[in-house]
Amino acid sequence: MASKPCSTLFTSPLIHLVMLLLLPLSIHSHSTQQHQEPFKSLEGCHKGQTLKGLHTIKQYLGKFGYLPHHHRNKTGSGDDDMFDDSLESAIKTYQLNYHLNVTGILDGKTLQDMALPRCGVPDIVDGNSSMRSGKKRHLGSMHHTVAHFRFFPSNPRWPPSKRQLTYGFLPGVQVIGAQDLRSICRSAFDRWARVSHFTFQETQDVNTADLKIGFYRGNHGDTAPFDGSGGILAHAFAPTDGRFHFDADERWATNPVAGAFDVESIAVHEIGHLLGLGHSSVREAIMFPTISPGVKKVNLHGDDVQGIQTLYNMP
Ligand SMILES: *[C@@H]1O[C@H](CO)[C@@H](O)[C@H](O)[C@H]1NC(C)=O
Ligand SMILES: *[C@@H]1O[C@H](CO)[C@@H](O)[C@H](O)[C@H]1NC(C)=O
Ligand SMILES: [Zn+2]
Ligand SMILES: [Zn+2]
Repeated sequence: MASKPCSTLFTSPLIHLVMLLLLPLSIHSHSTQQHQEPFKSLEGCHKGQTLKGLHTIKQYLGKFGYLPHHHRNKTGSGDDDMFDDSLESAIKTYQLNYHLNVTGILDGKTLQDMALPRCGVPDIVDGNSSMRSGKKRHLGSMHHTVAHFRFFPSNPRWPPSKRQLTYGFLPGVQVIGAQDLRSICRSAFDRWARVSHFTFQETQDVNTADLKIGFYRGNHGDTAPFDGSGGILAHAFAPTDGRFHFDADERWATNPVAGAFDVESIAVHEIGHLLGLGHSSVREAIMFPTISPGVKKVNLHGDDVQGIQTLYNMP
């Protein structure tokens, strides 16, 4: 009975036309859908269960440092769909970092956060399940024990002789205009220069530059391939590596545009990594790992400033 009107709808030429017109829209929304769908069916999953697709959560948590590599089952193919102790503990750490209820259960809010576009740098870089933190604030309950700014393991920094850093642009894929990219990066670097002892100077010779910026897609020769539209947006390496790559397969914009990522917002975040900052669990901080399309977030938060000044022993 219910399927009857439906089949008439789909045979109407007018409806066909409308559907064709809608098609480009649905392609754009697909990018976030494809990351949401596999997770969605896992809502409510908890320790002791075996559920098809759970290995995608393990891959996700492994990729971002919540599950040590040896706990990830390399056979894949659904063999590792078991919710065990290490998965529960990884989910709890993730929930703590993202200010979610620390239940160890894959609830809707946890899955929603995991589906958000984000930076490719792991949240926990030393493979240890405890969070690295510059400082911890203890506000009473477990739920409010938050780590804010963090560094990379063993605190890699630029040496004191390197306070004037040069940056240049890698050939890569041209996604936005070269002049736009130059002025956006200039502005993003200035934000960090204002709160640190660093100065940043553009150079034409990218080979000798301390910091190297470019757009790449898929597997691009470092250990961290990009993943197409959605998911990972960019990544940068800790000092003194200097590489900073945008995922060329995202929709990028030089100003907030619905459905596109703001280049400067991502640049300010990745420069934080270039200088030695890890991810912060302060949602408003630039160094928080996720960002939504259409959002401009370029002002350094007190937590970011405290992070860089602590790392470089500024008073
Ligand atoms: C990985 O999967 C295989 C095959 O199902 C299973 O025998 C093994 O115990 C799993 N290993 C881990 C570490 O979960
Ligand atoms: C945490 O749990 C409480 C009570 O069940 C609920 O009202 C709240 O929305 C939850 N918060 C999050 C972030 O999931
Ligand atoms: Zn990051
Ligand atoms: Zn890269």
